[in-house]
Amino acid sequence: MKEDDHIISSAFLFGNTNSFFGTLQKLGIEVTFVDATEARFVENAIQKNTKLVFVETIANPVTQVADLKAIGQLCKTKNLIYCVDNTMTSPCLFLPKSVGASLIVNSLTKYIGGHGNALGGAITDTGLYNWSSFENIYDTYRNEEPELWGITQIKKKGLRDMGASLGPEAAHHLAIGSETLSLRIKKACKNALALAEFCQKHSKIKQTYYPGFFRSPTTRAGATTFLNNLDQFLALIWQMTWTASNFSMQWITLFLPAISATTELSRFLLLTLFITKWVRSAEPQWVSLIQ
Ligand SMILES: Cc1ncc(COP(=O)(O)O)c(C=O)c1O
Repeated sequence: MKEDDHIISSAFLFGNTNSFFGTLQKLGIEVTFVDATEARFVENAIQKNTKLVFVETIANPVTQVADLKAIGQLCKTKNLIYCVDNTMTSPCLFLPKSVGASLIVNSLTKYIGGHGNALGGAITDTGLYNWSSFENIYDTYRNEEPELWGITQIKKKGLRDMGASLGPEAAHHLAIGSETLSLRIKKACKNALALAEFCQKHSKIKQTYYPGFFRSPTTRAGATTFLNNLDQFLALIWQMTWTASNFSMQWITLFLPAISATTELSRFLLLTLFITKWVRSAEPQWVSLIQ
C-alpha cells in the first residue's frame, strides 16, 4: 500500500493489528473500519482509491464472524485484494481460498506452532488475485507470471525492508509443532464447546461469546453457513462477565491470554484455565469440567 490508498478493515480486530492500521493511517494510508459481519457495510465503504479489504475469520477477542463468502464475492466483483487473517480458525478448520481470499495471514505463534516456544507468522498468496491490475507492483517484480508478482514483492521488498525474517530455530520449533495441529485443534474445540455450554447455562455469567451458538450476538446470518461448514470443530475463545453480587471482583480470568508478541512466552498454555482459589472453592464443577 502507498500514500492515499484506502483499506477497508473489519472493526473487529486483534489489538496489534488495529494498532498497525493506526500507524498506516499516520503514513497517509486511509483505513475505514466497518462491521464486517455484513458485506453491505464493506460495500458501502468502497471508494475510488480502495485497494484491499481485511478481515479476521473469527475475530479476536469477541468472536464476531465476518461474512466471509459474501465479502469474497464483493472483492472479486470490484477487483479488490481480499486479505483474510485465519489465525483464530487455522488452516485446520478453514481454508480462506474457499471464500475467494487473495492473501491469507496466519499467526504461527498460536495454534500452528502450538507450544509457545517461537514467534512467527505466515502470509499465503492463494493465486486468485491477478496482480497485473495492481498498480503498486514495482517494475522489478513484473517479470514473472502475474499471479506471482504480489508474493514476490512482499518477500523481496516488504518482508526484507520491515525485518520480518523467521529465525532458523523458531522455524524448527514451528515446523515440529505444526505436525500435531489437527490433534490439538480437535481437542481445543471439544474443550471450548464444553466450556461454552457450561458457561451459557451458568446463572452468574452474563454473556458467553461463542460463535457456535447461532443466537450469539456476534454471529449473524451470513456467518451461520460458514460455521455449519466447520462441522463440530467450532471455535474457540470467548469472554464472559461474572456478575457475582457478593464479591467486588467483576472479572475473573478463566484463560491465560493467547500466546502473542504482547504476552510472555512462558505463559504459553492457550485455552488453559487459570482459576482463582476462590472459584475453586466456590464452584467445584469448574475443576471437573477442565480435567
Ligand atoms: C487474529 C490474530 N492475528 C494476528 C495475531 C498476531 O499474532 P503473533 O502473536 O504471532 O504476532 C493474533 C494474536 O493474538 C491474532 O489473534
